[in-house]
Amino acid sequence: MAKPTAKKATRKTIRVSAPKTAPASTAAEPKAPRKLTKAQLIDEINKDLAKEYSALIQYVQHASVITGPQYDTISAELTVHSSEEHQHAITLSDQIDFLGGVPDVNVADIHISPDSKVMLEQDLEGELDAIARYRERIGQAEMLQEYGLRRALEDILIIEEEHARDLQSALDL
Ligand SMILES: [Fe+2]
Ligand SMILES: [Fe+2]
Repeated sequence: MAKPTAKKATRKTIRVSAPKTAPASTAAEPKAPRKLTKAQLIDEINKDLAKEYSALIQYVQHASVITGPQYDTISAELTVHSSEEHQHAITLSDQIDFLGGVPDVNVADIHISPDSKVMLEQDLEGELDAIARYRERIGQAEMLQEYGLRRALEDILIIEEEHARDLQSALDL
Protein backbone atom coordinates (compact mmCIF):
# COMPACT_ATOMS: atom_id res chain seq x y z
CA MET A 1 0.00 0.00 0.00
CA ALA A 2 1.02 3.64 -0.42
CA LYS A 3 3.21 5.23 2.21
CA PRO A 4 1.46 7.80 4.45
CA THR A 5 3.19 10.74 2.74
CA ALA A 6 2.21 9.54 -0.72
CA LYS A 7 -1.34 8.93 0.47
CA LYS A 8 -1.70 12.46 1.79
CA ALA A 9 -0.56 13.86 -1.54
CA THR A 10 -3.11 11.82 -3.49
CA ARG A 11 -5.97 13.24 -1.45
CA LYS A 12 -5.46 16.59 -3.14
CA THR A 13 -6.49 15.06 -6.45
CA ILE A 14 -10.03 14.13 -7.33
CA ARG A 15 -9.95 10.78 -9.04
CA VAL A 16 -12.86 10.32 -11.37
CA SER A 17 -13.68 6.67 -11.95
CA ALA A 18 -13.17 5.58 -15.52
CA PRO A 19 -16.14 4.18 -17.38
CA LYS A 20 -15.33 0.50 -17.98
CA THR A 21 -15.14 1.02 -21.73
CA ALA A 22 -12.91 4.14 -21.63
CA PRO A 23 -9.13 4.21 -21.21
CA ALA A 24 -8.18 5.29 -17.67
CA SER A 25 -5.88 8.02 -18.96
CA THR A 26 -8.82 10.05 -20.29
CA ALA A 27 -11.15 9.52 -17.31
CA ALA A 28 -10.36 12.77 -15.50
CA GLU A 29 -10.26 14.93 -18.62
CA PRO A 30 -13.18 17.31 -19.04
CA LYS A 31 -15.26 16.45 -22.06
CA ALA A 32 -15.03 18.83 -24.98
CA PRO A 33 -18.25 20.84 -24.94
CA ARG A 34 -20.62 19.52 -27.51
CA LYS A 35 -22.62 22.03 -29.51
CA LEU A 36 -26.05 22.63 -28.15
CA THR A 37 -28.81 25.22 -28.09
CA LYS A 38 -29.88 27.25 -25.08
CA ALA A 39 -33.00 25.07 -24.79
CA GLN A 40 -30.82 21.95 -24.73
CA LEU A 41 -28.62 23.53 -22.08
CA ILE A 42 -31.71 24.23 -19.95
CA ASP A 43 -32.71 20.56 -20.33
CA GLU A 44 -29.26 19.45 -19.17
CA ILE A 45 -29.35 21.77 -16.14
CA ASN A 46 -32.79 20.40 -15.26
CA LYS A 47 -31.20 16.91 -15.17
CA ASP A 48 -28.45 18.31 -12.90
CA LEU A 49 -31.18 19.79 -10.70
CA ALA A 50 -32.92 16.39 -10.34
CA LYS A 51 -29.59 14.91 -9.23
CA GLU A 52 -29.08 17.70 -6.67
CA TYR A 53 -32.50 16.92 -5.18
CA SER A 54 -31.68 13.20 -5.01
CA ALA A 55 -28.26 13.92 -3.47
CA LEU A 56 -29.71 16.09 -0.72
CA ILE A 57 -32.26 13.37 0.21
CA GLN A 58 -29.65 10.60 0.00
CA TYR A 59 -27.31 12.51 2.33
CA VAL A 60 -30.09 13.11 4.89
CA GLN A 61 -30.85 9.36 4.95
CA HIS A 62 -27.20 8.30 5.06
CA ALA A 63 -26.32 10.77 7.84
CA SER A 64 -29.08 9.27 9.99
CA VAL A 65 -28.39 5.60 9.28
CA ILE A 66 -24.58 5.41 9.07
CA THR A 67 -23.12 3.68 12.14
CA GLY A 68 -19.70 2.95 13.59
CA PRO A 69 -17.29 5.09 15.60
CA GLN A 70 -15.00 5.41 12.56
CA TYR A 71 -17.84 7.20 10.75
CA ASP A 72 -18.75 9.78 13.45
CA THR A 73 -16.93 12.63 11.72
CA ILE A 74 -18.20 11.86 8.24
CA SER A 75 -21.75 11.42 9.57
CA ALA A 76 -21.81 15.09 10.63
CA GLU A 77 -20.19 15.99 7.32
CA LEU A 78 -22.95 14.24 5.35
CA THR A 79 -25.49 16.58 6.93
CA VAL A 80 -23.39 19.54 5.80
CA HIS A 81 -23.22 18.04 2.30
CA SER A 82 -27.00 17.74 2.25
CA SER A 83 -27.39 21.46 3.02
CA GLU A 84 -24.90 22.32 0.29
CA GLU A 85 -26.76 20.17 -2.26
CA HIS A 86 -29.90 22.10 -1.28
CA GLN A 87 -28.07 25.36 -2.06
CA HIS A 88 -26.97 23.92 -5.40
CA ALA A 89 -30.58 23.07 -6.22
CA ILE A 90 -31.63 26.64 -5.44
CA THR A 91 -28.81 28.02 -7.61
CA LEU A 92 -29.67 25.75 -10.56
CA SER A 93 -33.38 26.47 -10.25
CA ASP A 94 -32.67 30.22 -10.34
CA GLN A 95 -30.27 29.86 -13.27
CA ILE A 96 -32.86 27.88 -15.27
CA ASP A 97 -35.36 30.66 -14.60
CA PHE A 98 -32.82 33.33 -15.62
CA LEU A 99 -32.25 31.44 -18.88
CA GLY A 100 -35.99 31.54 -19.63
CA GLY A 101 -36.71 27.92 -18.72
CA VAL A 102 -38.95 26.32 -16.13
CA PRO A 103 -37.19 24.46 -13.29
CA ASP A 104 -38.38 20.84 -13.05
CA VAL A 105 -39.22 19.20 -9.72
CA ASN A 106 -38.00 15.73 -10.67
CA VAL A 107 -35.85 13.69 -8.29
CA ALA A 108 -33.22 11.36 -9.76
CA ASP A 109 -32.45 7.89 -8.37
CA ILE A 110 -31.52 7.65 -4.69
CA HIS A 111 -29.16 4.93 -3.47
CA ILE A 112 -29.33 3.47 0.04
CA SER A 113 -27.68 0.51 1.77
CA PRO A 114 -27.63 -1.16 5.21
CA ASP A 115 -23.81 -1.13 4.96
CA SER A 116 -22.11 2.10 6.09
CA LYS A 117 -19.12 1.71 3.78
CA VAL A 118 -21.39 1.06 0.80
CA MET A 119 -23.32 4.23 1.64
CA LEU A 120 -20.14 6.27 1.38
CA GLU A 121 -19.25 4.54 -1.89
CA GLN A 122 -22.69 5.42 -3.23
CA ASP A 123 -22.19 9.04 -2.16
CA LEU A 124 -18.75 9.18 -3.76
CA GLU A 125 -20.10 7.74 -7.00
CA GLY A 126 -22.69 10.53 -7.04
CA GLU A 127 -20.06 13.19 -6.43
CA LEU A 128 -17.77 11.91 -9.19
CA ASP A 129 -20.73 11.90 -11.55
CA ALA A 130 -21.58 15.48 -10.50
CA ILE A 131 -17.98 16.62 -11.05
CA ALA A 132 -17.95 15.15 -14.57
CA ARG A 133 -21.32 16.69 -15.39
CA TYR A 134 -20.43 20.16 -14.09
CA ARG A 135 -17.11 20.14 -15.93
CA GLU A 136 -19.05 19.47 -19.13
CA ARG A 137 -21.72 22.04 -18.24
CA ILE A 138 -19.14 24.80 -17.60
CA GLY A 139 -17.77 24.25 -21.10
CA GLN A 140 -21.27 24.44 -22.55
CA ALA A 141 -22.08 27.66 -20.65
CA GLU A 142 -18.84 29.17 -21.94
CA MET A 143 -19.69 28.12 -25.49
CA LEU A 144 -23.07 29.88 -25.28
CA GLN A 145 -21.43 32.94 -23.64
CA GLU A 146 -23.55 32.46 -20.52
CA TYR A 147 -20.85 33.77 -18.21
CA GLY A 148 -23.05 34.26 -15.14
CA LEU A 149 -24.14 30.65 -15.41
CA ARG A 150 -20.56 29.53 -15.89
CA ARG A 151 -19.55 31.31 -12.67
CA ALA A 152 -22.43 29.74 -10.74
CA LEU A 153 -21.46 26.28 -12.05
CA GLU A 154 -17.81 26.82 -11.15
CA ASP A 155 -18.82 27.64 -7.57
CA ILE A 156 -20.88 24.44 -7.42
CA LEU A 157 -18.02 22.38 -8.89
CA ILE A 158 -15.62 23.58 -6.17
CA ILE A 159 -18.02 22.29 -3.49
CA GLU A 160 -18.58 18.95 -5.28
CA GLU A 161 -14.81 18.45 -5.38
CA GLU A 162 -14.67 19.10 -1.62
CA HIS A 163 -17.46 16.56 -1.10
CA ALA A 164 -15.55 13.95 -3.09
CA ARG A 165 -12.38 14.59 -1.07
CA ASP A 166 -14.32 14.24 2.22
CA LEU A 167 -15.70 10.89 1.09
CA GLN A 168 -12.40 9.61 -0.28
CA SER A 169 -10.79 10.50 3.04
CA ALA A 170 -13.53 8.72 5.04
CA LEU A 171 -13.14 5.66 2.79
CA ASP A 172 -9.36 5.83 3.27
CA LEU A 173 -8.83 6.04 -0.49
FE1 LIG B 1 -24.41 19.52 -5.46
FE1 LIG C 1 -22.00 17.13 -3.62
